[in-house]
Parts: sequence; C-alpha cells; structure tokens
Amino acid sequence: MTAATDTTPAAAHQAAAAAAAGFAAVHGGAPDGVWAAPGRVNLIGEHTDYNAGFVLPLALPHTTRAAVRRRTDGLLRLHSAQAPGAVVELPVDALAPGAAEGWAAYPAGVVWALREAGYAVGGADVHVDSDVPAGAGLSSSAALECAVAAAFADLHDLGPEPAELALLAQRAENDFVGVPCGVMDQTASTCCIAGHALFLDTRDLTSRHVPLDLAAAGLRLLVVDTRVKHDLADGAYAERRAGCERAAALLGVPALRDVPLDGLEEALDRLTEPALRPLVRHVVTEDARVERVVALLDAGDLRAVGPVLTAGHASLRDDFRVSCFETDLAVEAAVTAGALGARMTGGGFGGSVIALVEEDAVDRVAAAVADAFAAAGRTAPRAFTAVPAQGARRLA
Ligand code: GLA
Repeated sequence: MTAATDTTPAAAHQAAAAAAAGFAAVHGGAPDGVWAAPGRVNLIGEHTDYNAGFVLPLALPHTTRAAVRRRTDGLLRLHSAQAPGAVVELPVDALAPGAAEGWAAYPAGVVWALREAGYAVGGADVHVDSDVPAGAGLSSSAALECAVAAAFADLHDLGPEPAELALLAQRAENDFVGVPCGVMDQTASTCCIAGHALFLDTRDLTSRHVPLDLAAAGLRLLVVDTRVKHDLADGAYAERRAGCERAAALLGVPALRDVPLDGLEEALDRLTEPALRPLVRHVVTEDARVERVVALLDAGDLRAVGPVLTAGHASLRDDFRVSCFETDLAVEAAVTAGALGARMTGGGFGGSVIALVEEDAVDRVAAAVADAFAAAGRTAPRAFTAVPAQGARRLA
C-alpha cells in the first residue's frame, strides 16, 4: 500500500522542475510555464453524465504536467515522458480529426478544439509528464487534456472559466480522439478543489463543492487499481451510451435523468425493449444514490455513505454490466475485510475500485484484496489512499 502522492508546495515545485528539465532535454531552453491537471476518482454517479444526471467526483493528487512554450511558426511539437521517442510534429492549421494518433491525439485535439471554439491559438513546444496511472479508470486522458488546455488558455490569455475548458477538453476527446465520453472527468480535472468532492449536475453544469474531510472523521478512501486495462475506445462504453439514449427516446424523455425514481417501475413497464430495462434502472437509481450521498456528506454522516457505494456497485455489476471479475473480487474482498463500502469507479471493464474504510483498517483491507487476487491467480493490484486534491493549475 502506498501513501497518496505528495501534495506539498515543495512537491509541486519539484514536479514543475522535473517537467521543465524534461522540456529542456527535448526542446532545448526553458518553457514559458508548467501547468498541472489531476486525475480523479468518482465517489458515486457512474454512467450518469451522458444521461444529463448527477456525479460526485474528486480530484486525485496524481497529475499530468504540461511544460509549454509558444512558437511563432504555427507548429505544434509534442513530446511525452510516458511515450519516449520522437517528437510528434503537426502544423496547427492542418489539425483535424484523424491528424494525430495515440497519446498525441489528446493534446492535439485540445488545440484543435480551442481553435474550433474561435480562440486564436498558435503553435507550441509541449512536453508532458504524468503520474496518473494510465488505463486504470483514473482519468489519465482528462488529466492530459486539461493540463494542455490550461496551459494554452493561460499562455494566450484566453480567459475561459474552468467549466468551459472542461467542455473544450471533452470536445477534443469526443470529436478528435473519437471517444464518446461524458463531461465528468474533464470537469473534475479543471473544477475540483482540495478537500472537497464536486457535486455536478451534468445537464446545466451547475456544481457545488461538497466538503469531504475523511481524515477528520477517522476515515480513508482506499483506491485499488485492479491492473485490468480499461479502454473506453473498445466499443462497450459507446454501446451502453447508445442503449441509454435509445431508452430515453422510447420513453419520450430528453434523457434518462428525466425518469423520476417514483416513476421508475411504470417507465420500466412501458419500455418496449426489455433488454434496455436494466440500463434505465441503473441510471435512475444511481442519480438517487448521488443525491443521497451528498445529503449524507452535508449532514456529516460519512460512515453511512459506505453502503450506498456498495449498492452502486451491485447496480453497475448486475444492471449496467460494466464490472468484471477483478472489480467484483476487489469490492467483495474489501467489504468482507471490514470496508464500510466499496465500488468500481469510472467507466468500468476493469480499472479501479474505491473503498471507504476506517483509518485503522486500511492495511487490513488492502492486504485482504491483495490476498484475494493472489488466491485467484491475478496480477497483484496496486493500492493507495486518496485525499481530494486541487484541479488544474499553473505550477511555474
Ligand atoms: C468514463 C467517462 C465519463 C463517465 C464515466 C462513467 O470515465 O469518461 O464521462 O461516463 O466513464 O461514469
């Protein structure tokens, strides 16, 4: 079990210096600045953000850093410490979906989305470095997009609000990279503040920072990366999203968020495609779980959040069917070992699990999950405790 990534000013200074050194080694000279944007875990509210529903994510201390220097010749020159090798060079005027592949499509897509939105953004030298685990359901893509978006917005004095930057980053992922994600991850990465979860209404993008001081309550949020690769581009995510949209159309509502909890049974009866019923049941009950968790946090009743998390997992496993053997195993082992509650977080099909645990049970719960994985012959999971951290910001 590792502790959360260091969030002290000294650590931020060191991360900025490392990004600047990486920049100098690839591009020569110093960057104009260094920006950081975090990954996230979602406390509750899964697969609700493309149904105009509620989510409750928090930013992780893990970030992607972007060291950036403007260029005057219209070239975008991209390099990543996580993909060592040649610099990817693209003329900004020629940016269009399909113009970049792999990791480079994310930063290139952000520059494209900014230009599409009418912002006069030119070329730049870019070096990125990240400690957000990739493919772990912790939003490494959003961290990359949002670090680059924050850098370009600042450098060109564009002034969009963090929530607008999130929409631009989502546009990059939807239309340039080609992943039909919702807006949760990018909004968490740009808008979250330390010590709080972000209660976001994805219909009108209004949000509220909800205090989440786990340590004061003697609790910890354990994050377990199951090491099962999670890839949203593989079609299953898009399939779930299409199913939800079809169900909403059949029910005659703009989005599944508009099906009230007390009208759920009636709506399920009315749905002419029975295969879509579990999707609707998940989304409608999940929105209610988000509201319940927010009410519990507001009331300071943090321990009561646990069972709501576990109920959310059951819904994702049985109704929405986006869990997998390893996420189910981690949840079950954590709860059996005494976690107050646990659930998969993020898109699913692998990725990470969160568990709400008493502080003196952290090691026991982490060990129980590791033992269960060993007994099942699975790769050892990675676990750390997370505190709600700050959203995108300039480091240097
Ligand atoms: C991924 C997507 C988000 C959201 C979650 C599921 O993380 O990027 O937009 O849909 O899955 O809640």
